Amino acid sequence: MDQREQFSTKLGFILTAAGSAIGLGAIWKFPYIAGQNGGGAFLIIFLLFTIILGLPLLMAEFTIGRTAQKDAISSFKHLAPGTKWYYIGALGMVTCFILLSFYSVIGGWIITYLIKAITGGLSNLDGQQFESVFNETISNPIGSLTVQFVFILFTIIVVAKGLQKGIERASSIMMPALTILFIMLVIRSVTLDGAANGISFLFQPDWSKVTSKTILEAMGQSFFTLSIGVSVMITYSSYLPKHQSLPKSALSIVGMNITIVLLAGLAIFPAVFSFGLSPDAGPVLLFNVLPTIFSQLPFGMLFFVSFLIIFLFAALTSAFSMLEIIVSVIAKGNKAKRSKASWIIGISIFIFGIPSALSFGPLNDFTIFNKTFFDLADFTVSNILMPIGSFLMAIFVSFKMKKSALFEEIKRGSKINQAIFHIWFILIRYVAPILILAVMLDVLGVW
Ligand code: PHE
Repeated sequence: MDQREQFSTKLGFILTAAGSAIGLGAIWKFPYIAGQNGGGAFLIIFLLFTIILGLPLLMAEFTIGRTAQKDAISSFKHLAPGTKWYYIGALGMVTCFILLSFYSVIGGWIITYLIKAITGGLSNLDGQQFESVFNETISNPIGSLTVQFVFILFTIIVVAKGLQKGIERASSIMMPALTILFIMLVIRSVTLDGAANGISFLFQPDWSKVTSKTILEAMGQSFFTLSIGVSVMITYSSYLPKHQSLPKSALSIVGMNITIVLLAGLAIFPAVFSFGLSPDAGPVLLFNVLPTIFSQLPFGMLFFVSFLIIFLFAALTSAFSMLEIIVSVIAKGNKAKRSKASWIIGISIFIFGIPSALSFGPLNDFTIFNKTFFDLADFTVSNILMPIGSFLMAIFVSFKMKKSALFEEIKRGSKINQAIFHIWFILIRYVAPILILAVMLDVLGVW
């Protein structure tokens, strides 16, 4: 995607940006974090953050990207020459580096399941057996490193060749297919015996479970699922034609994301309660529950394999965006450099991610601040680096860029009126920075 070419169709950009947004965050991470944080209350706080912070911030990144039409670092250098604001882009690169290092571990799990499902290794197993098969796999060091490597390899190959744009065609089939499969799962899940407990877990807020950490995690989760605060959306929107509406693009991505989050929650929790599992099982939650729900559907294995393929695709399109933002800064349109940078950075990410992959096996008991490597990497990215990136992004847009220029850019291709623009501006200039800071300081126990 280097030659500053643009997306061919309106849908092209939305699909690519949605491809970055919709991934493990909505499908794997949301259910497990919500499960650990009491369910319903977490969902409500997450939705509020997504609308009050996520949506305006996504718009802000789109505006930066389309105004500057450059990569994560050059965009800031172009808009604020001679200043250090480009550190926001550099922070995004570091964040995406760490992010892909543990994201690929989960990507690898999907590959493992896919291989097992296709080769019949999962047929005729009951829930308990699934769990032990799975635990065996993720604790095996060689096995988990191999699949993690394969996941990164796919990512490197696509980014090295600059193929992300071509992926938009596949996305236009995969995203609707994902939705349909999820709807099937939801129908099966909510009709299981005892499903009602899961539904009330998801929709009946238990405010007594809410702590300052819950609020931070809900905020981090809303940034994570929308890929914001790390300049990914700046990079993607730099390829965006001027006639496309930024507010509409942002709205549709947020809408799709919320839909997938709700479907994932509705598919997982009724089943968790019906099968007598615990909602706070952590990162393994989805992987323990899914096969059992599928096994209760006619042609279950077939649907399970289809689901895993689409799930892998969704995770990969997010992974592409993480590597892309780093590579595009280095390659600057040079094809040979792009390829070299993709390989070197991709392999470095794999090496950096080794301790995360081993966190479910040999390094299970090795903890820092009470967290395994995997948990620490995830926590640092989602709850520290992404909020800091988003905070700085909001300050940059609302204090460094001219308000009139912002309005001009947002007006291109959209019918946004002054009043809505003002609301957005207030959200970005005041609400977002203050809220992000308050949530972060609250966790530190500052007040
Ligand atoms: N939004 C992606 C997901 O939900 C994760 C992501 C975060 C991707 C930041 C790129 C940048 O899986």
